[in-house]
Amino acid sequence: MFDPDSYREQSLRTWGEMAPGWRDRNDWMMSITGVVNDWLVEHADPQPGQRFLEVACGAGDLGCQVADRVGDEGHVISTDFAPEMVEVAGNRGNERGLSNLEHRVLDAEQMDLEDDSVDGMVCRWGYMLMADPAAALRESKRVLRDGGNLAFAVWAAPDRNPWAAIPGMTLVQRGHMDPPEPGAPGIFGMADPDRIRDLVTGAGLAEPELEEIPFEFTYPDFDDLWDSIVRIAGPLANAIKAQPEDEQVATREAIKENFASFQGEDGSYAAAAVTWGVLTG
Ligand SMILES: C[S@@+](CC[C@H](N)C(=O)[O-])C[C@H]1O[C@@H](n2cnc3c(N)ncnc32)[C@H](O)[C@@H]1O
Repeated sequence: MFDPDSYREQSLRTWGEMAPGWRDRNDWMMSITGVVNDWLVEHADPQPGQRFLEVACGAGDLGCQVADRVGDEGHVISTDFAPEMVEVAGNRGNERGLSNLEHRVLDAEQMDLEDDSVDGMVCRWGYMLMADPAAALRESKRVLRDGGNLAFAVWAAPDRNPWAAIPGMTLVQRGHMDPPEPGAPGIFGMADPDRIRDLVTGAGLAEPELEEIPFEFTYPDFDDLWDSIVRIAGPLANAIKAQPEDEQVATREAIKENFASFQGEDGSYAAAAVTWGVLTG
């Protein structure tokens, strides 16, 4: 039975632990997933002088892109519920010298922000991980002014995302994770377009525009692919770390075997990824 309070506690701890991995793999991540940020920025359409909110910012590159668009007269509040992620994103913002970008710890399910206080919002790969995405979307509606845009991304179905489905399936097969419960939070928790529409409109937001954004995760070798799992893949990393050393080694081998058909002749790996881009307001 899904327990939202213990899920929240565990999720906060897990993502805090993942922050160094997101910092260290940020250039790799951006080189692959920048196309998704571009879709979100283009559809959220931040204008010079506007005040924007990013939730679940992780390492914070999307917020930087929005800050570039709102310019010196505008303001971006880039937020995450894990203080360790906010620190990574804050350092990233400082490196970029963006004076219109602020970082804050903020739980998207319970936002410490006034009603109608932002002109627009973005979120990449956050809502489907939240214990109560309906509450987070209601909060988004509350803080977003009338007519403002909310652009967000959530992962499409597992069969379109072998990069994540294969390690997840391997962990379930080895008994290290439970199979995902329908409707429970998780990487594929909002993959069904009807669920996206129900959650969005149920929060009082407009009928969403949905678009599939396809791309590909690539890894120079299996060491790199494994590193990406154990250092950034939240719940999967957690499930692996909970195993004794010998079982971690066996799990690594099993995942490698299950990825064999994605390996090229040069030893590199490439696996498809598809995310939903969602625009509402
Ligand atoms: C998969 S990462 C995505 C990070 C970043 N948006 C990106 O796409 O690179 C998910 C992020 O959601 C954050 N998160 C999860 N639940 C949250 C909540 N209830 N409120 C705010 N942030 C949350 C985690 O701390 C983590 O940084």
